[in-house]
Amino acid sequence: MTYAALRSIGAYAPEKLLTNEDLSKMVDTSDEWITKRTGIKERHIAADDEHTSDLGVKAAQKALDRSGIDKSEIDLVVCATISPDYFNMPSTATIIAKKLGLEGVTAFDISAACTGFVYILSIAKAFIESGMKKNVLIVGAEKLSAITDYSDRGTCILFGDGAGAAVISATQNKEEAIIDVHTGADGTYADLLMTPNGGTGSPHDALEGETGACYMQMKGNETFKVAVRTLTKDVVEILENNNIKSEDIKHFVPHQANYRIIKAVGDALKMTEEQVVVTVQKYGNTSGASIPMAINDIYEEGKLQKGELLLLDAFGGGLTWGSALVPFSPL
Ligand code: ACO
Repeated sequence: MTYAALRSIGAYAPEKLLTNEDLSKMVDTSDEWITKRTGIKERHIAADDEHTSDLGVKAAQKALDRSGIDKSEIDLVVCATISPDYFNMPSTATIIAKKLGLEGVTAFDISAACTGFVYILSIAKAFIESGMKKNVLIVGAEKLSAITDYSDRGTCILFGDGAGAAVISATQNKEEAIIDVHTGADGTYADLLMTPNGGTGSPHDALEGETGACYMQMKGNETFKVAVRTLTKDVVEILENNNIKSEDIKHFVPHQANYRIIKAVGDALKMTEEQVVVTVQKYGNTSGASIPMAINDIYEEGKLQKGELLLLDAFGGGLTWGSALVPFSPL
């Protein structure tokens, strides 16, 4: 049996910072409100000429360098993004592959909003276990500042830019294997989070004159409640299905949307503070990039050792959700 293993992690956050103080000069808000309601203090913002693929390339290069796998051996690149370089085509994954000099790979994007990284992890696992691919580069990359309405205080305080990437490879060693990835979706709640901009559901012509159509729109409070409920249920299920107790988890890495959501889910699972990885204060919500960026942080801080078990948990627009049990298995 061939299994899939998480070999390496990498991330990149653009240089420029957008602080709560900065935002309080742009909309009617305050550092105190944002900190209390979200836990966020600052976010990173990409330069005008820095595209989503550029962020993805920087994260991916780190993951490749750390993987011990030659780039010529990468046979699939999948990018999770809701802020692609170009809507529709070409995919951001193909641009990332080109910029990295990966020739002859299969490359495509997926759209699962903040659950994007868990979705691409499941895709990598499935391709590898089926024998179709051997070394998969997965990238969560977002330039959310490009689709954020900086006159809407309900959303602009939340989002930031960044990218995270991982190399997932085939192994025959079960000890190294990704244990399980669970994903789901429910379009009933599609209107909680959406960007109407110009799809066939709301063509450009019909939107003429409507402000905000190209930006993320969110019913924050309703989303919050569904998020806590869904995230907790999903994690309880994946732990039960695999006979794993929450104390067996070394690092719980939830999607970084709001500290209050992270805390509520961590408490429901009886996780200790040491187990729960929190980076929302410095990056805000970077959607599909948030989980790999958080894993990269603990890796660079020397807190992530070979064989340690990660529990991932995400929730986002669609609605989509997903969780994963992943041992860190560098070569
Ligand atoms: N500053 C000051 N006041 C504000 C701000 C702000 N930035 N934003 C909203 N308010 C006000 C509201 O107008 C409201 O005022 P009112 O009581 O006079 O009407 C009050 O604060 C409370 O508003 P709520 O929306 O109920 O505030 P809440 O505590 O829910 O916090 C927040 C809002 C932070 C957006 C929260 O709902 C949230 O984090 N939601 C979930 C976001 C999320 O997880 N999204 C999923 C992933 S995103 C993706 O997939 C792309």
